[in-house]
Amino acid sequence: MGRDQIKFIENNIAKDRLNVLVMHHHLIPVPDTGLEAAIAEDAGDVLKMLSKVNPELVLSGHRHRPWSWKLNDINFFFSGAISTIRLRGFFENSYNVIQIENGKISPQLKIVGGDFIDFNKLTRNQQ
Ligand SMILES: [Fe+2]
Repeated sequence: MGRDQIKFIENNIAKDRLNVLVMHHHLIPVPDTGLEAAIAEDAGDVLKMLSKVNPELVLSGHRHRPWSWKLNDINFFFSGAISTIRLRGFFENSYNVIQIENGKISPQLKIVGGDFIDFNKLTRNQQ
């Protein structure tokens, strides 16, 4: 990410609004995806800054494996893949639907042409 972008994010988090950071690559390893070689190189520095400014959501992709982690009260959601056959760990094409209402965050995974799955079921009661 680099120092300049880390500082940019830190300076642009608004205290009076909901903050969502969207990035292609990820800051925390995603399970079932094999060797980790694509995580942001300075993930530790980014996570340290995020823990200071506390955005509500951090969204990322790249791994083609839907997942979520909560770290230092920050919700991290990782998307699956909507159309490719290169899937890992969860073998359906999918996308994330995250509803936010009155500060309450309700994340669901939507299988393309199929059901909604609660993220808590996806990550806590693995099939
Ligand atoms: Fe990618």
